[in-house]
Amino acid sequence: MMPILAAERIVKQYPGVKALDGVTLSIDAGEVVSVVGENGAGKSTLMKVLAGDVRPDAGELRLEGEIVRFRDPRDAIRAGVVLIHQELSLADNLDVGANILLGREPRRGPFLDRGAARDQARAALSLVGLGRLDPATPVAGLGMGTRQLVEIAKALATDARVIIMDEPTSSLTDGETETLLATIESLKARGTTIVFISHRLEEVRRISDRVEVLRDGAHVGTLEGSAIDRESMVRLMVGRDLETSDLRSDATIGREGPPRLRVFGLETTRFPGSKIDLEVRSGEIVGLAGLVGAGRTELLRGIVGIDRIVSGVREIDGRPLVVHHPADSAAAGLVLVPEDRKADGLILEDPVRDNLVLAGLSRLARGPIRSRGRESVAATGLVGRLGVRPPRIAHPTGGLSGGNQQKVALGRWAACDPGILLLDEPTRGVDVGAKAEVHGLLDRLAREGAAILVASSELEELLSIADRIVVLHDGGIAGELSREEADESAIMALATGGRIRRDGTAA
Ligand SMILES: Nc1ncnc2c1ncn2[C@@H]1O[C@H](COP(=O)(O)OP(=O)(O)OP(=O)(O)O)[C@@H](O)[C@H]1O
Ligand SMILES: [Mg+2]
Repeated sequence: MMPILAAERIVKQYPGVKALDGVTLSIDAGEVVSVVGENGAGKSTLMKVLAGDVRPDAGELRLEGEIVRFRDPRDAIRAGVVLIHQELSLADNLDVGANILLGREPRRGPFLDRGAARDQARAALSLVGLGRLDPATPVAGLGMGTRQLVEIAKALATDARVIIMDEPTSSLTDGETETLLATIESLKARGTTIVFISHRLEEVRRISDRVEVLRDGAHVGTLEGSAIDRESMVRLMVGRDLETSDLRSDATIGREGPPRLRVFGLETTRFPGSKIDLEVRSGEIVGLAGLVGAGRTELLRGIVGIDRIVSGVREIDGRPLVVHHPADSAAAGLVLVPEDRKADGLILEDPVRDNLVLAGLSRLARGPIRSRGRESVAATGLVGRLGVRPPRIAHPTGGLSGGNQQKVALGRWAACDPGILLLDEPTRGVDVGAKAEVHGLLDRLAREGAAILVASSELEELLSIADRIVVLHDGGIAGELSREEADESAIMALATGGRIRRDGTAA
């Protein structure tokens, strides 16, 4: 069969990094091909080349056998090739429908055909399981998961023949991921070709006809059909076997210290009326589970004072903490590593060193003067500990791959030794090896006495690192599960508004 789209011997050099070093990839019509590899392996760069977003230094693209040169993404879209970027790019000032139809609004004569626009937007939304979302909803208020699904609806509305999804599930919950995987199955049945990128290898195994593995800008292997399994993918990705262990199994409940953080009756503006009581003890990692929209992010932002709260009391080490500004929390050793690293995490124009030492700046300054030397030493140490690649502290942060940016976002907080660390989706988009490093880092911080609260949509992650799991539903606490009680079905039962019977089964 003639491949629908092929990249041949693609080379792309960035200052100091060869992102792609002669990669060849061909995709047959109607196939689901996944591309996996560690952070910085070159996946996004290769996808951008396929979609006309990056011009390769050498090599060529073929569309149904013919050599093509895409000048820009619009060129590729006209040819039926659409890329959904890793970093989402919806226009916040427009509503959902306008985003989906941007630049292709249906017209009647010179006028926008509002009825047709609404119908087209609705049709695209229902393909991704958002049939009940009103196209007139402003994008600004949507959570990350819904945004991702809207982006996919937008691509579907262009009648694309090849849809490239760069880490579409990294901000989705398990339930939304199921919706997306089902959407991919139905697109495939309709003959649409899908190129899929994810660090969640289980979903890669389920969805792919073929898996292509990149390492350090080179193609290192292909797995097909029943040969696609987690171990084989990991071995090709990292070039060795990786052991995953149950980190917290020996950090048993009861050994942790006194409560460091307590909140009483905390009400966020998003869920007025839901009062949250929560406690995190020294030495403990508490997981925060819930579906997208359950209020995990709002709770974390409310605790540290990024968002105003309606009411509630915070206590640190038994003393009330008054928060007018997140800086008040930080001064008391309470910090949040946010979910959206682009919006409130990193300054992408600045070098890695500056982002890493930003949070702990005052500690590295001698008097009022910053010490460049000490900053560099501290930053170099962190880059090594977190495995940031390339390991260069002068590299612009925006030039790092998505997962490596996430490591920098985490590292800057680890750098200032917070006593109480809240994390929102700490390993979103982080590869298997780095994920283990991040989990190891959290475990180490907890053993050193930190109190840690982690929100994650990945149940597997919570089950492996949390000492207990608090499940949110509709802005309130639906229940709490000890390490022994917690498993996927118990969490899902609470997260979807069900209850757990005394015998531990879901009702
Ligand atoms: N615009 C850019 N400027 C400079 N370097 C870049 C740029 N884009 C990518 N790179 C570098 O190219 C390499 C490959 O990056 P790429 O984003 O393709 O990785 P990736 O496999 O998608 O990783 P991740 O899983 O973290 O998303 C990385 O070393 C990255 O730092
Ligand atoms: Mg990427």
